[in-house]
Amino acid sequence: MDAPDLTTDFCGVRLPNPMVLASGILGTSAALMARVAAGGAGAVTAKSCSLAPRAGHPNPTVLDWGAGFINAVGLANPGLEEEIVILQATRQRLQEAGQGVKLVASIFGTAVEDYAVLAERINEAQPDLLEVNISCPNVHDELARPFAASCPAAAAVTRAVKRATAIPIIVKLSPNVADIAEIAHAVEDAGADAIAAINTVAGMAIDIRARRPILANREGGLSGPAIKPVAVRCIYQCYQAVKIPILGIGGVSSGEDAAELLMAGATLVGVGSAVHSRGVAALGQVRDELVQFMAAEGFGRVADLVGLAHRT
Ligand SMILES: Cc1cc2nc3c(=O)[nH]c(=O)nc-3n(C[C@H](O)[C@H](O)[C@H](O)COP(=O)(O)O)c2cc1C
Repeated sequence: MDAPDLTTDFCGVRLPNPMVLASGILGTSAALMARVAAGGAGAVTAKSCSLAPRAGHPNPTVLDWGAGFINAVGLANPGLEEEIVILQATRQRLQEAGQGVKLVASIFGTAVEDYAVLAERINEAQPDLLEVNISCPNVHDELARPFAASCPAAAAVTRAVKRATAIPIIVKLSPNVADIAEIAHAVEDAGADAIAAINTVAGMAIDIRARRPILANREGGLSGPAIKPVAVRCIYQCYQAVKIPILGIGGVSSGEDAAELLMAGATLVGVGSAVHSRGVAALGQVRDELVQFMAAEGFGRVADLVGLAHRT
């Protein structure tokens, strides 16, 4: 049997393989993103950017608690103007490398109008896809909740971004909601081309000797191995609720983890924390393990795995 074919179509964009560097993991450096691409990613996602530069939260911002991370980086980023330059440099490096690795930009705002301006200006950098982060635990709408926590707010952001750009948009959802499927359905109705699930799971850690929360922001977002079952459940529920494709993210550190997210309904698989702990080669390792799994189980194409767990 021939080696499995990993090329994957997502919203009309062809990726050499389904592995995607998740947003925020390597900051905003074009050089680092190019290294992840060379290490075997099918696409790389930039750190989410806002209109103005943000310093983020004071240290400590990231804690390794044993089964993953808790972070409250606070979306530190250099702001839109600088981000456009970084995205352009990244795109150029990816094109020069010639491996067909795609670029995903990521935006977040504190008001619907912010998202419209960000999407409009990001067009200048011509990323292949645009991720719309409405799910960071530290970014809130006027009701002091993330946009991802309510159907009308999530739909309003989606509509505003869709009006501002022709680039396919991926709306990134939060697991910290009562019913992620209804949010997925609302953003699909509002014109989203795809959804990403999931962002981090709300959490907290306390230093019992100092008798206070460890992170300066007190609360943070869990990522890494501990959240994989949450991601699988969310992807599974979203797949039942929508027809648009899903970028599945959460707790993937092996090829078998990636296969699990694909069978839950993901078309692409994001990797974040594993890159944070194992370095830029992590995506290539996961990709190679996925190939081994597919070959051993007789799968010829990635698409053959997508949503398979729904058919039993
Ligand atoms: C340090 C850190 C920073 C992150 N920054 C962002 C960000 O800027 N935008 C975003 O959409 N998600 C961000 N995330 C969430 C990840 O993209 C991903 O959704 C989450 O970590 C789950 O995947 P994982 O278990 O593979 O890490 C961040 C995660 C971590 C650990």
